[in-house]
Amino acid sequence: MPPTPGGHGTLRSMPAQINPSILSADFARLADEAEAVRGADWLHVDVMDNHFVPNLTLGVPVVESLARATDTPLDCHLMIEAPDRWAPQYVEAGAGSVTFHAEAAAAPVRLAREIRAKGARASMALKPATPIEPYEDLLPELDMLLIMTVEPGFGGQAFLDIMLPKIRRTRELIKKHGLELWLQVDGGVSASTIERCADAGADVFVAGSAVYGASDPAEAVRALRTQADAATAKASWSCDH
Ligand code: DX5
Ligand code: ZN
Repeated sequence: MPPTPGGHGTLRSMPAQINPSILSADFARLADEAEAVRGADWLHVDVMDNHFVPNLTLGVPVVESLARATDTPLDCHLMIEAPDRWAPQYVEAGAGSVTFHAEAAAAPVRLAREIRAKGARASMALKPATPIEPYEDLLPELDMLLIMTVEPGFGGQAFLDIMLPKIRRTRELIKKHGLELWLQVDGGVSASTIERCADAGADVFVAGSAVYGASDPAEAVRALRTQADAATAKASWSCDH
């Protein structure tokens, strides 16, 4: 979208990014499921260890194989304990972005620097009860901040509206510091909630059941992006003033 001339400020030029979560895909057919969402910006890969969250999914070898099987970059969301030890291995496995949880990282600044130094985007996630404010000074170390809009662990849960103020406050911090930080939301994002997220300030949207539960997943991605872009264009945060 080109900048708008005139006195209305400059609209954001970057379209919303839609990242389908393969948690809602068929794990026996991951390469096909990646192909089914061709056109998505990233594939969201939920890594769960049954300790940080009460569910178990996949690890480094599966990420390695998936990275070879698709051209879509991998956005690995690590819902695991000891990410300081494991996160760098996901970069080596081929992830383009690696998200660790603030609640689990022992040394988030060191870890973010290590992820970046190995060549991936560094991202940090906050569970619903974790506030953004204590992390304000860390934001320049990150390429993306993930605000969970459900308790992590399972797909198909209901979106938590009570997270919208945290999304707004985070967007204000990003503006205040003039950062190029992406703001991702994950959990319950669908046609009925994505506009509220975009309006509040999110620009990267994870969607599992809303994409893979659709009869045409690639079309669902396009429809979500259109909705998010329209809501962003109307949002006060997307203008310069
Ligand atoms: C939940 C995961 C999400 C999940 C989202 O802990 O982090 O990525 O797949 O699924 P939906 O979009 O169905 O809520
Ligand atoms: Zn996730």
